[in-house]
Amino acid sequence: MLHIQGVHLTEKRIIIALDFPTAAAAEQFLSGLDPASCRVKIGKELFTAAGPDFVRRVVAMGFDVFLDLKFHDIPNTVAGAVRVAAELGVWMINVHASGGVAMMSEAREALEVVSGTRPLLIAVTILTSLAEDDLTRQGISCSPAEQVIRLAEMTSEAGLDGVVCSAAETPLLRERFGDRFALITPGIRRTEDARGDQKRVVGPAEAVAMGSTYLVVGRPITQATSPAQALREFNSAAAGDC
Ligand code: C5P
Repeated sequence: MLHIQGVHLTEKRIIIALDFPTAAAAEQFLSGLDPASCRVKIGKELFTAAGPDFVRRVVAMGFDVFLDLKFHDIPNTVAGAVRVAAELGVWMINVHASGGVAMMSEAREALEVVSGTRPLLIAVTILTSLAEDDLTRQGISCSPAEQVIRLAEMTSEAGLDGVVCSAAETPLLRERFGDRFALITPGIRRTEDARGDQKRVVGPAEAVAMGSTYLVVGRPITQATSPAQALREFNSAAAGDC
């Protein structure tokens, strides 16, 4: 059993990425899903198209919503954005760790004044789309893995709940930050799934074994002939049943 912020998790490790261009398409997809069997992620595309009212509707349907807007700005601005996001009733919010410890600390403090259960606040370390060359061009001379550790240390120091990372980074981060630090990993595929644009993929059972807390899965479920069946398979694999 896993312990995150006092919550005992024996299931619902799968976060389905609702990468749809409209509220109508996302709502049609959600109508076939049981909120007891998964959580969902609303990112920049869907949020920009559908807005905060849509987020409130998905929360009202009973889904735990990860609002993936990756805030990155001056501390005061991010703190305000995080507070307003929390008031939508979402389960998890994220910011960019590269915004700095002060930005993350103020964001974390902003959640203290929100009524009800406080959402988890996590940070994006290095975008997996960036390679060593890209970091060099930004004046960062260490490897992406070293930079991920550095940013995760800042995240932990600021009192956040975890980081988004690639599955390859989870063993090191798990060892370093312990069981209470949530590790959220995208790039999850079963052997039969198309990789799409994901370069390095990991299976659901393997990701959990390597230390992932939550697995972000998009197309293998959203584009499946039967999303409910695909979700059952991902849940079984993540639970170690197959
Ligand atoms: O369809 P797929 O399973 O590849 O979707 C993965 C989701 O995780 C998408 O919403 C994508 O934006 C997100 N993500 C990612 N890699 C990252 C961070 C987020 O794939 N490093």
